[in-house]
Amino acid sequence: MRRLFVAGNWKMNTTKESGVALAKEVAAAVPSGGSVDVMVAPPFPYSSAIHEAIAGSGVELGAQNLWYEPSGAFTGEVSADMLKDVGCAQVILGHSERRHVLGESDEVINKKNHRGLEAGLHVVFCVGEQLDDRDGGRTDAVLSTQLEGGLTGVEGGQFANLTVAYEPVWAIGTGRTASPEQAEAAHAHIRGWLREHYGAEIADSTRILYGGSVKPDNAAELIGQDNVDGALVGGASLKADQFIAIIQAAQGLS
Ligand code: PGA
Repeated sequence: MRRLFVAGNWKMNTTKESGVALAKEVAAAVPSGGSVDVMVAPPFPYSSAIHEAIAGSGVELGAQNLWYEPSGAFTGEVSADMLKDVGCAQVILGHSERRHVLGESDEVINKKNHRGLEAGLHVVFCVGEQLDDRDGGRTDAVLSTQLEGGLTGVEGGQFANLTVAYEPVWAIGTGRTASPEQAEAAHAHIRGWLREHYGAEIADSTRILYGGSVKPDNAAELIGQDNVDGALVGGASLKADQFIAIIQAAQGLS
């Protein structure tokens, strides 16, 4: 069985003080060696402080982005090695806000995926359709295109360090969650795509997280779907009690 995984994407929120307090509360509820993998991705400037706050717990540090070149004249960007240097073990790439607000293409996301994997970071690679794609019946086609574009050149052996996150754009931060059936259908499509391109073993072992308005009251039903292996949580990851309740929902299913 795939190990369930709950990740918190703090986005551009918290102060150093509130972030450290939040991380400490989560860390206290997640001892190392637990049955569920847990990651939090704070804003870059707080990485070191949060790394310290979660030390010794079962929570891993993630980042929300990276740039794909190793170093150089890329004003404002952060490299994979810099992330590792401050304790990040994971990185979220291809998030819909990077795609649709910051204009990242599948090609750029592909380069970032390669860089993250080559650097030894665990990559949480996000895909998801917008509302008009869903309404127009193009959900599966959009997901296939994003998978194809983002994973070009990624080898089967690298999947040990890769998690896919399905995040329907219309459900992110809107309070409008995909129904468990909608989530399961999209996850089954993603797993089918992985099977077709990488074979059954990789398809069956790769985790696919659901993200988009996951809350304590819907987490168990969503994560309980056959092809849903955890959650990528935005808003609810900013409240320790809510994030911990989502982790506990996953623990209850493990
Ligand atoms: P949300 O965000 O939980 O606030 O909808 C999810 C995400 O964007 O990762």
